[in-house]
Amino acid sequence: MTAVPPTTTTPDWWREAVFYQVYVRSFADGTGDGVGDLAGIRAHLPYLAELGVDALWITPFYPSPMHDHGYDVADPRGVEPVFGDLPGFDALLADAHERGIRVTIDLVPNHSSHDHEWFTEALASPPGSPARARYFFRDGSGPHGDSPPNNWPSVFGGPAWTRVPDGQWYLHLFAPEQPDLDYSNPEVVADLEETLRFWLDRGVDGFRIDVAHGMAKPPGLPDMVPAEDTGLFADDGPGDLRFDQDHVHALHRRVRAVLDQYPDRMAVGEVWVFDDERLSHYLRPDELHLAFNFRLLTAEWGADELRAAVEHSLNTVAPTPAPACWVLSNHDRPRHVTRYGGGEVGTRRARAAALLQLALPGVAYVYNGDELGMPDVDLPDEVLQDPIWERSGHTERGRDGCRVPVPWSGDEPPYGFSSTADTWLPMPPGWGPLTAAAQTGDADSMLSLYREALALRRGPAFRGDGVEWLPAPDGCLAFRRPGGLVCLLNLSPAPVPLPEGQVLLASGPVVDGQVPVDGAVWLSA
Ligand code: GLC
Repeated sequence: MTAVPPTTTTPDWWREAVFYQVYVRSFADGTGDGVGDLAGIRAHLPYLAELGVDALWITPFYPSPMHDHGYDVADPRGVEPVFGDLPGFDALLADAHERGIRVTIDLVPNHSSHDHEWFTEALASPPGSPARARYFFRDGSGPHGDSPPNNWPSVFGGPAWTRVPDGQWYLHLFAPEQPDLDYSNPEVVADLEETLRFWLDRGVDGFRIDVAHGMAKPPGLPDMVPAEDTGLFADDGPGDLRFDQDHVHALHRRVRAVLDQYPDRMAVGEVWVFDDERLSHYLRPDELHLAFNFRLLTAEWGADELRAAVEHSLNTVAPTPAPACWVLSNHDRPRHVTRYGGGEVGTRRARAAALLQLALPGVAYVYNGDELGMPDVDLPDEVLQDPIWERSGHTERGRDGCRVPVPWSGDEPPYGFSSTADTWLPMPPGWGPLTAAAQTGDADSMLSLYREALALRRGPAFRGDGVEWLPAPDGCLAFRRPGGLVCLLNLSPAPVPLPEGQVLLASGPVVDGQVPVDGAVWLSA
């Protein structure tokens, strides 16, 4: 298959694309310090081209003190030395484009790092000063102002407010090292536009927008309805005033207006909004091109649950110009091999889930290591780094388990990820068979399944929007795409007969015309 070089104009190239999420710290280390970097990504472009992905989403690589591993950005228009430098980024972009792979990057507008020069200036400036007006500095409540200004919790645990020596408090929906920016201040909006242009001018193909539903706060910052689960990842109801405020849409229109000045660029939002209609508002023609739909990522392994996830996602996009956008795993959630039970069962289900995800109409995001069937790792307490671990008072282990470096080759740590065994998170023993090298020659491996699936997905059977649900045995899901592809997923406790058609790909052995338990097949009708 010849790739289309991104230099040619292919409007809406993203509508059916497979994006590959590179968690930069964990993908590949090109410099031998145990931390993944831009050089590592560049060196693995041939692998990504062979895998057949259309585009990358690279997680934040900007200067950062790393209190949230790069999601605390000290300078949104630079490169963190641990990850490389600007010429290195340009070289990566050029090489990727030459191979027909588009490159999108993370935009972290909701907050900055406490090391951002604006925040340093704010701390050094008095209450009420313009420097403080870029953030949310407020006087406290209570007789001496020694209680936080409102009752908002931080997503990472504890209050969303921290007090500074002169007695004021500042808002941080995440860690105290991530102060929230105030987008009612035109200077803050103008700076975001400058960041967009900075990277668009360099040639990036788009952005993934972090916490896209959180960038606007309600005037007066009133108390919210106390929530049991304070996470960004909860099904936040309308009482959670931290997120999904109506005026956030005006900001997305500003972002879109900048993107529209450049041909063929796109943005996908991290929008943790579960109400189909409210989520669809982010996908109006002058807002985001795509919004992650996290329903697959949060669905239990069951026919009803998965069907509901698919239907909600399709209903969400139906009234919008956007295609659906499917996610099974990312750097914030347990990997799906583990979610589905781990071990052999988890892997079997993950293979079937991959065929479900890649058969659905729209966009698919593959998290680095999905294609190898990586599970989460049970890490010992002393190596945990996620701020959630500390902020929760060691009650929640956080997200490190899904961020362990990717194994490339060899039989022991660091499995070709780095030249040092001292990787930023330790890699477990026994991962030799999981490495990309070991899986490459094996027709039955997860990697081979993904390669075949991605190649087939480019064919005419996968054309067209929407799905037609087909009659299927109990506990099974079956649907047809307008182009003719039929996908059957067997979530029942027994093998079921193959539907009619020619088998294109199966996630597990089809014996005597039976689709195995936890198996999926693709057929052309
Ligand atoms: C998003 C990111 C997550 C990060 C948070 C704060 O949810 O995906 O990794 O911790 O935003 O930036």
